Amino acid sequence: MSLAVPQLEDLPDPAGKSVLLRADFNVPLARDGEDKARIEDDLRIRATLPTIEWLLERGAKVTACSHLGRPKGEDRRYSMEPVRRRLAELAPGVELMENLRFDPGEEANDPAFVERLVAGRELFVNDAFGASHRAHASIVGPPARLPSAAGRLLAREVEVLGGLLHQPARPFAAVLGGAKASDKIGVIRSLLDRVEVLLVGGGMCFTFLAALGHPVGDSLLEPGQVDACRELLDSGRRIMVPTDIVALAPDGRRVQQVGRTIPEGWRGMDIGPGTAAEFVDEITPASTVFWNGPMGVFEDDRFAAGTRAVAEAVAACRGFTVVGGGDSANAMRRFGLADRVGHLSTGGGAALELLERGDLPGLVALRGAPNAL
Ligand code: 3PG
Repeated sequence: MSLAVPQLEDLPDPAGKSVLLRADFNVPLARDGEDKARIEDDLRIRATLPTIEWLLERGAKVTACSHLGRPKGEDRRYSMEPVRRRLAELAPGVELMENLRFDPGEEANDPAFVERLVAGRELFVNDAFGASHRAHASIVGPPARLPSAAGRLLAREVEVLGGLLHQPARPFAAVLGGAKASDKIGVIRSLLDRVEVLLVGGGMCFTFLAALGHPVGDSLLEPGQVDACRELLDSGRRIMVPTDIVALAPDGRRVQQVGRTIPEGWRGMDIGPGTAAEFVDEITPASTVFWNGPMGVFEDDRFAAGTRAVAEAVAACRGFTVVGGGDSANAMRRFGLADRVGHLSTGGGAALELLERGDLPGLVALRGAPNAL
């Protein structure tokens, strides 16, 4: 299946035209006081600049729009104001609409809301890769009404992740972590057909360990997913689950390395050093690596070693490396390794959904645009 979408060059001449740009400016915010929000990481804004510059250089008038957080109605704590200030510094002259999710029509994909978004606009550009798995009004609505294109950021994400799906260099190793097995079962199923080895860490590994019959103490466990994990483990594909774990005692203070069986009351917090070494041995020589989700609670230094080992192996790997957004991208930044990744995706959920389903609602919509071939 081709993931081809119309590119900026496929738009009619943007000179003098009013362009609606859907970006993903859903940036992490820190709150200094009740109302004052500060942007902690502006990567998603900077990543959209090549598209904005391309449009401005050609004389377009750009109005950007995005969601920010998951507000219930018009909650001013999620106002786009901090983003507007940063955008004004980086790309003067670009207008920014207020948080799209302040209007219930956005998530409901309400045609009346789409009409309001496109009123007075002549072209549409989607550069919101991180939100293109949402069939929301601003993602799927405008391409049905306006000549449309993928921005540079979206196009690059699709090229890279599509490449993982269709022609990865081998051997291909995928490393998945994060809290919940239920979020990852679908993508694991899809990846197992494509990778030589799948490495499982993070909170989700305890559901896999339970599926192998090990007691997991007080660790994160999704009993409803044990059968699905067992099925994956029985699939005959190469799945590596931890052989040792760093666990926290019931007193909340003592930390100890244990095997696959976690004592009663203890809680698994990170993969152990033996597992980390096994994972590093798979990642380092791989020709393609995809990593999504930390190996442990890496925000706490006592449980950061597993995630750090994976991050360093990804950085040292000479193959093509892709790190899915969210926590694993944060980990690469925290360890100062972000510039040593082949591709640092701006979308966590969107990257996983693209790998799982092979397409995204936002891409399907762009292919239906009046200017798409
Ligand atoms: C993200 O941060 O993954 C995207 O901006 C999508 O946000 P959402 O999960 O709230 O739709």
